[in-house]
Amino acid sequence: MPIRVVLNEDEIPRQWYNLAADLPSPMLPPLGPDGNPISPEMLAPVFPMNLIEQEVSQERWIDIPEEVLEILYRWRPSPLHRATLLEKALGTPAKIYYKNESLSPAGSHKPNTAVPQAWYNKQFGIKKLTTETGAGQWGSALSFACALLGLECKVFMVRISFDQKPFRKIMMETWGGKCIASPSNETQAGRDILAKFPDTPGSLGIAISEAVEAAVTDPTGQTRYSLGSVLNHVMLHQTIIGLEAQKQLKKIGEKKVDVVIGCAGGGSNFAGLAFPFVSDKINGARIDIIPVEPTSCPTMTRAPFAYDHGDTAKMTPLLPMHSLGHDFVPEPIHAGGLRYHGMAPLVSQAIVEGLLTPRAIPQVECYEAAVTFARTEGIIIAPETSHAVAATIQEAKKAKEEGKEKVILFNLSGHGLMDLGGYAKYFAGELTNHALHEDDMAKSLAAIKDLPKPAINRTGKW
Ligand SMILES: Cc1ncc(COP(=O)(O)O)c(C=O)c1O
Repeated sequence: MPIRVVLNEDEIPRQWYNLAADLPSPMLPPLGPDGNPISPEMLAPVFPMNLIEQEVSQERWIDIPEEVLEILYRWRPSPLHRATLLEKALGTPAKIYYKNESLSPAGSHKPNTAVPQAWYNKQFGIKKLTTETGAGQWGSALSFACALLGLECKVFMVRISFDQKPFRKIMMETWGGKCIASPSNETQAGRDILAKFPDTPGSLGIAISEAVEAAVTDPTGQTRYSLGSVLNHVMLHQTIIGLEAQKQLKKIGEKKVDVVIGCAGGGSNFAGLAFPFVSDKINGARIDIIPVEPTSCPTMTRAPFAYDHGDTAKMTPLLPMHSLGHDFVPEPIHAGGLRYHGMAPLVSQAIVEGLLTPRAIPQVECYEAAVTFARTEGIIIAPETSHAVAATIQEAKKAKEEGKEKVILFNLSGHGLMDLGGYAKYFAGELTNHALHEDDMAKSLAAIKDLPKPAINRTGKW
């Protein structure tokens, strides 16, 4: 029974998969401030045109540039593991597999898109990238990619994570990135928030506003903004995970996957693993595909599918997505990367189509699962990843009750070696569960009640 399935360099997928080509209903466009669809040119101050072309592409397959692959080979193809010791501890008849994305230099799946984003920006003549980061994984990944490609990098890190995870900042600095706490005094968006809420823990929505502002106000015109999740081109770059997993499962003779699981903040590691399997599902395969979120930030399980801004200062276009409202500031839970008010439009639309079954899990159950995983499989996972592991354990227990030998696949999106503060609090019994209160949700949703409503009907029978 193979425990670790590897692919050679020459077996790496050479194209990314674009779910937009196969979704039953066409992707809804982003809208400008006037409520009309925005043109690619309108995004040009923010992103380079070669990435905008990917953002709006309807092509099913997009070639991965050779120079990008040459950097990805440093940790890809990533191994597929069989979690035999976890299976044994749970006494489940299910077979549990996971893709190990924790082996990248930055420790997560994020470099899979940081490298191509930096590469396409460089091709376009850009010299500097700005971005936001929640837990610090994305800021580290972009700093790493910029170092290898010779670009400058500036990262606005959500205040609460900046305080909880000081070593992430050192990682970014080691790669030459500049990291500052958000909200900051460097941008108008940051100053406005600080004037109203001086003690705010910050949020991804606020940090995005700051990073976009810093890019578009650079008078040299040589700075662009880079987003670590949510957008179509980010989902696209991450599909290398699921495409590799399909080859690895085939290599060991696994014919069918029953359940595919990933944690979802903006949606990218989940989409990366799941979208090639969503394609199988559209073509008739029976698979449960589960994105998992925290109960304190229940974007997919409780928030409406709406048009909303990706950031708090309303600088981004209106995106069709599940959203808790752009003003939403989630509880300071330790899974910083899952504290986002919205969800990728591609993931959101696949939910509306009935292709995905989202699930919310409270923080303490996630840490319990993370500790079980560390004590069986050995890897100390990121707090974000613990949501995927908690759902995997739920599914493995269900398979036991049903007496079914199901095949479960999840994405191990990152290690938690920089996130031990959360583990310390868990062991000290200081972690609590937060479920978002109805009244608080109603308050944050008030921000989007007058925005246009997306019209889409469920077309399939999944
Ligand atoms: C390890 C890890 N997993 C998951 C996420 C969530 O992001 P996404 O939903 O884009 O994969 C993050 C975000 O910071 C992360 O660091």
